Amino acid sequence: MKNDLFLRACRGERTDRVPVWFMRQAGRSLPEYRELRDRYSILELCGTPDLAVEITLQPVGRHGTDAAILFSDIVVPLQAMGVDLDIKEGVGPIVYDPIRMSSDVDKLRPLHPEEDVPFVLDAVRALVSELDVPLIGFAGAPFTLASYLVDGGPSKDHALTKALMYSDPKTWHRLMEVLAAAVLAYLRAQLAAGASAIQLFDSWVGNLSRIDFQTFAEPYVRHIMSGLEDLGAPRIYFGIHTGHLLERFAAVGADVAGIDSTVPLDDARALIGDSVALQGNLDPAVCLGSWEVVEGRALDVLRRGGGRGHVFNLGHGVHRDTDPGTLTRLVELVHEWDPGG
Ligand code: CP3
Repeated sequence: MKNDLFLRACRGERTDRVPVWFMRQAGRSLPEYRELRDRYSILELCGTPDLAVEITLQPVGRHGTDAAILFSDIVVPLQAMGVDLDIKEGVGPIVYDPIRMSSDVDKLRPLHPEEDVPFVLDAVRALVSELDVPLIGFAGAPFTLASYLVDGGPSKDHALTKALMYSDPKTWHRLMEVLAAAVLAYLRAQLAAGASAIQLFDSWVGNLSRIDFQTFAEPYVRHIMSGLEDLGAPRIYFGIHTGHLLERFAAVGADVAGIDSTVPLDDARALIGDSVALQGNLDPAVCLGSWEVVEGRALDVLRRGGGRGHVFNLGHGVHRDTDPGTLTRLVELVHEWDPGG
């Protein structure tokens, strides 16, 4: 691998320049992605290694990011566990037979990655032989996966998910155990296939109060993080609207905390301490504004990140209407910035 800046920043090292990649860097902001998407559904793209490889490489070639993220979706392993689901454009994942009671949890099959999702691991193996930057593997975290399985689709308040948690905690904890085991096996398989780091997406966990996070979600995140420790690869934990949970982010066993745009990185650093690196956190909507605005806000993120143990990213995924030229320019800006010291 020619460029390991990303891995060094994840380990908290000072680097000559700050590494940068973007969540959802592959996707609808790129015309070359939309061209493929006109011909295939998103799950077909995820299930075909050649296409997943091509899409993963698109933003790396175009923007010059310091990391690639595997093109897939958090629901791919759920489908392989027997869940009947689809991804609806402009909506998100839809689960046709949601999990609402104990007997529904019994229907989830354990995940054996090499047999159940060979196409994902084939894509990882092909990518690592082509890339000269690190490949990030990923999975959805148990709470965020459960929110789709129980609510049956995207939800603002996750009321049905929380109802299960509060009314039948035994079933909730069993569901989370099953999901944590699957996610751990899935991430271990991606690292064994050659991924250099992993990101655990707990996108919606910020909907939980601190006490509920500690009771109903955190133990399973810790289980996954500690189960990956022997592999030595950087582990990133990310969610949005998690300002009230950031002190716990230092304790889940991740090497990097993904910070959304609502908390300035220097505040996040004060809450989390120096033991983990930070990733983030330019508001993706800023990239819809003029270049002057993008530049000003990006420099602010860089200064607050402090130039050490900081991976530049957006606070959430790239917006579909983003001009790809803005992202290319943003990569150049981050690379030109002198971290000093
Ligand atoms: O470049 C990358 O970041 C890798 C690809 C990636 C996808 N999904 C592809 C995708 C990643 C990392 C994900 C993770 C994912 N999927 C998350 C966690 C990250 C986050 O955004 O919080 C979540 C919550 C999902 C579930 C999901 N899948 C949603 C909410 C959507 C958007 C629905 C829409 O149309 O707006 C999807 C579909 C999806 N997954 C797209 C992409 C590129 C949308 C593009 C399309 O329809 O082609």
